[in-house]
Order: sequence, then C-alpha cells, then structure tokens
Amino acid sequence: MLKPLGKNLWFANGGIVSFFGAAYPTRMVVVRLASGRLWIWSPIAPTEALLGAVRSMGEVSHLVSPNKLHYLFLKDWQAKFPAAKTWGTASTIAKCSDIAFSGELGSEPPPEWAGQIDQYHFTNSRFLDEMMFFHRASATAIVADLSQPFSKEFLAGHWPWWLRKVATLSHMQEGWGFPPLDLRLSFRKRASAQRKVQSLINSHPEHVVVAHGEIVRSDGEAYLRRAFTWLDRTW
Ligand SMILES: [Fe+2]
Repeated sequence: MLKPLGKNLWFANGGIVSFFGAAYPTRMVVVRLASGRLWIWSPIAPTEALLGAVRSMGEVSHLVSPNKLHYLFLKDWQAKFPAAKTWGTASTIAKCSDIAFSGELGSEPPPEWAGQIDQYHFTNSRFLDEMMFFHRASATAIVADLSQPFSKEFLAGHWPWWLRKVATLSHMQEGWGFPPLDLRLSFRKRASAQRKVQSLINSHPEHVVVAHGEIVRSDGEAYLRRAFTWLDRTW
C-alpha cells in the first residue's frame, strides 16, 4: 500500500484518471517530518486500506497540492483529517474556490517544513505553474507534471497508438521524462527555470518520485539533468 522509497518517505499508487483523453496513473507521497507529523503530497483517492496505513504512521498535518491539476481528492482527505492544513499555490487556490486552503505556497517553504523539504516554484507557464519539492532526509525530488517518464508497458496498455507515438516523439517516456509538448511550448523566461533545476540538482537527489510514470530509484541527479534538457531547446 505505502511503499518506502527513502528515509521517512513513502509513496502510494492510485487509480487512473483521464486527462484530455489520455489515461494518467496517479501517485501520492507521504513524508514523516522530524516532529513525527505527516506531510502528504498530491493525495490520491482515499480507500479505507490507504487511510488505515496512513493513520498507523502518524498524525496527518499537511495536505499539499503541487499545482492546479492536483486537487481532485483534497476535500476527501480534509473530511478524514479536519485538523490538517491544506496548502496550494495561488493558482490552485484561485481555481478551487470550493476548497478551504490554510496557506499559500510561495518561493520559500513555510516554517512547518523549512529545512526538511525544499521547494521550487516554476511559474514560467501561464497555463500551469508547479511547486517541485526536495525532501532532504531521503534525497528525493518530488515532481508532479514537469517530468512524465511513462514506461513502454504502461503506454502500450493504456494509450491509443497515435498518442503513444506523440509520447515517444516528445520524450514523455522512461529514461527521458519530458513533460507534454504544450507545457514546454508555453514555458517563458527559461533561465530562471534552469537556475531552479540546477539548484535542485546541486542538492544531489538520489530518487525522483513523479505523479505520473516510473519512479527513479538511483542517480536522480543524472535523471533530472536529462529530463530538463528541453529547457535548452526552443520547444
Ligand atoms: Fe498531474
């Protein structure tokens, strides 16, 4: 149910959601903070088994949405854990007016997880900003949509042939992990994004956990260097 990836970090795979006709697998991350409290990123559909596993690990204190496409199950988790704080970037808070947020995520981490989880706000696309995270204790980068390393097996089993072709040609596959072409094309002021990626790489991530696609379990640093080479291109 909850699988460990590194010290004080676990992930759980969820069901498949449809996004503009493409099947997207879902994944959430649980970090146990130094206080023992739990920080939950991009919560997936809460089954009783998953809720039981989470409860057995500690008190859920933070529900974190990395971008305005990752909010689907926040309300369900809020109902289960009413004492938890819910966090999102300004665009998510503006879009989800029916969800009560406790705090806005900005360029600096809030005191609740500063020094344990770093955050990098990519505001380059006016269509989709994203907060990327780095959990220091497990040396894990946590990425929602800015890297999408789908396996050949997943694409063959879930995407139609023409969409598979698009994914392959645009490097949305294991080993590359580029995001979709439309997101890349919308990226402006890339030097600022490159500085953030470099800063993340300088933290020496070993693992990269993504919301959609295959988890990178070793040499995340090399993976991220390659996964963001599209920033050097015109598209
Ligand atoms: Fe996503």
